[in-house]
Amino acid sequence: MNLLNGERLVLGTCYYPEHWKEELWREDLTRMLETGIEVIRIAEFAWSKIEPSEGVFTYEFFDRFLDVVEETEMKVIFCTPTATPPAWLTDKYPEVLNVSKEGVVYRHGQRRHYNYNAPVYRELCARITEKSAAHYGGRKCIIGWQIDNEINCEKDEFYSASDTTAFRTFLQDKYGTLEQLNEAWGTVFWNQTYTAWEEIYVPRPTYGDATNPHEVLDYMRFVSASARGFAKLQSDILRRYCKPGDFITTNGIFGNLDNHAMRAESLDFMTYDSYPNFAYVMDAYDEADTMKDRKWSRNLSEVRSISPIFGIMEQQSGANGWNTGMAAPTPRPGQITLWTMQSVAHGADFVSYFRWRTCTFGTEIYWHGILDYSGRDNRRIREIRQIHERLQKMQGISGSRYEAEVGVLCDYDNLWDARLDVWHRSVEEASKKALFQAMQHSHTPFDYVYLTKDRRAEELKKYKVLFYPHATMISEERAGLLKEYVADGGILVVGCRSGYKDMNGKCVMDHLPGLLAEVTGTDIPEYSFIAPDAGEVFVDWDGIKMRARVFADLLEPLSQDAKVEASYVSDYYAGSGALISNSYGKGKAYYYGSAFDEESAGIFLQKLGVARPYGEIVALPEACEIAVREKEGRKFMFILNYGKEAVTIELRREMTDLESGKRVSGKKELTGYGVMVLCME
Ligand code: GAL
Repeated sequence: MNLLNGERLVLGTCYYPEHWKEELWREDLTRMLETGIEVIRIAEFAWSKIEPSEGVFTYEFFDRFLDVVEETEMKVIFCTPTATPPAWLTDKYPEVLNVSKEGVVYRHGQRRHYNYNAPVYRELCARITEKSAAHYGGRKCIIGWQIDNEINCEKDEFYSASDTTAFRTFLQDKYGTLEQLNEAWGTVFWNQTYTAWEEIYVPRPTYGDATNPHEVLDYMRFVSASARGFAKLQSDILRRYCKPGDFITTNGIFGNLDNHAMRAESLDFMTYDSYPNFAYVMDAYDEADTMKDRKWSRNLSEVRSISPIFGIMEQQSGANGWNTGMAAPTPRPGQITLWTMQSVAHGADFVSYFRWRTCTFGTEIYWHGILDYSGRDNRRIREIRQIHERLQKMQGISGSRYEAEVGVLCDYDNLWDARLDVWHRSVEEASKKALFQAMQHSHTPFDYVYLTKDRRAEELKKYKVLFYPHATMISEERAGLLKEYVADGGILVVGCRSGYKDMNGKCVMDHLPGLLAEVTGTDIPEYSFIAPDAGEVFVDWDGIKMRARVFADLLEPLSQDAKVEASYVSDYYAGSGALISNSYGKGKAYYYGSAFDEESAGIFLQKLGVARPYGEIVALPEACEIAVREKEGRKFMFILNYGKEAVTIELRREMTDLESGKRVSGKKELTGYGVMVLCME
């Protein structure tokens, strides 16, 4: 069996044979298979079971387990155990440990307590990977490998001495000379000029944590490169040993990491760990948040941008909880189904539940799996059995692709710059959230589209509208790509604060929006944060009033083809341009001088004619999400109700309900947390 080959939707679970008495193994595996679970993921924290002391390799434990597995039909995803180096290792080689910015060493006792750059850790990881792959790689039950566990989770910053050494090498490779580095980082400011590579460190504590921003940006790129290198080290070894057809993946997705590049270099596809119940963690619960668990659709869209069809390596199946925090209720009846279908709707063809049995010891005694401590049959296993039955009727969905006419452009440079730069962050966070909510509430499916190194204008063409909310940093190549997209008939919308930084994060000495001036036909002679005493600032777009948010670029058209579409009507900005459209080739670019809120984002979707693409086919209340997956002309529509209460939906065209196999139309009730999947033919 292979996963994600477009043939079947498959369920799995995370299993820890090392946590249970061996007598339980067979019974557990049999029960899983009876539940419809066909794949287990194992061994990601089990280094000591394979190398109990340095250089001593004992394979018997997993041999015995895999023997039992092979007496059943179960399939296995085997993991490299590098997320938890054993005590003998960290004790003998303390330089492998991660260190906080303040210099505090993260000691043994939790997990992911290592750094990617200690040469000895890389050697020991390469060795355990090679030993495991060489020994277990040929087992017929193994269908794929997971590298490490949640790369960059827990902490995505690393400040050990090995990181400083590797950072210097990274910078030497990037800049060649100190002169170039000093220039790129603007070190003449505040007398930071470096005269030797040894003077450079990973960022260290500074007053107000205000370390040179260009340095911090390169540091984030360095962390990403380190994590990618660590994954590649392992995948290169795994590739040499795994059977033809076996896949390599890892479970994400986390910060300071170019997941797209990691996927391209090291993985067959990405898997994601989906825990929508975080929305209900007691002390973080926000009643006013209209998205709650629906926010995971945003994360799933991010995963889809990495792998159009992906897997869920860990899907919520019980309460969240560590004894040190994160107390959350048990998923209500129906929620496991809803969250599983949310994953499938966005492109998951494999869903593996975390975890089979709830652990009775350790930090995660409250992080519940399918079964509780006793292991008795319960409501949750019954729900998963039902999910399996439902999925059997939807197998045609596997291999189909999520459909969207709207894209939101992203890139890692801007993502990381927004993390370190509060001006940038304030607009970025507001707009990303607003666009997501507006698209959810208006039932407008969208994709995140990353401007990766190899992105071609051709691939952007399928989107009628692309938002690039705040293209703060822009390169010639990316500006060129946008021009091509628009010239070829695309509609591009950029928001305020675009084009004012180069790729080092330095501001350009140019008329803004710099490299985006040509395609947007816009000039920005003046700009400001919306002052705290300004009250509400409005923009008038053909009589429709929208609220400007966070920032106001005051705009003027640059050419004949550029037209002021909307103007500010408040404060001293009144009368200044707030939105310019520019006809460019066969398409049009819009420059909006502010950040988006949900309302203005919704107005853009409406005005540009991309809101509610399925409005003629189905009428839905706001509580529902819509997603459509397509394969060879067949379209599958998912309707997901995130509310506790039943809702009425209206099918305005006859479609086939995949579960009943019946043709359905007209008004239908969808229960609280209900999901309906329809074949649109
Ligand atoms: C994930 C992790 C699992 C488990 C789970 C619940 O982040 O991969 O090992 O810890 O969360 O906390």
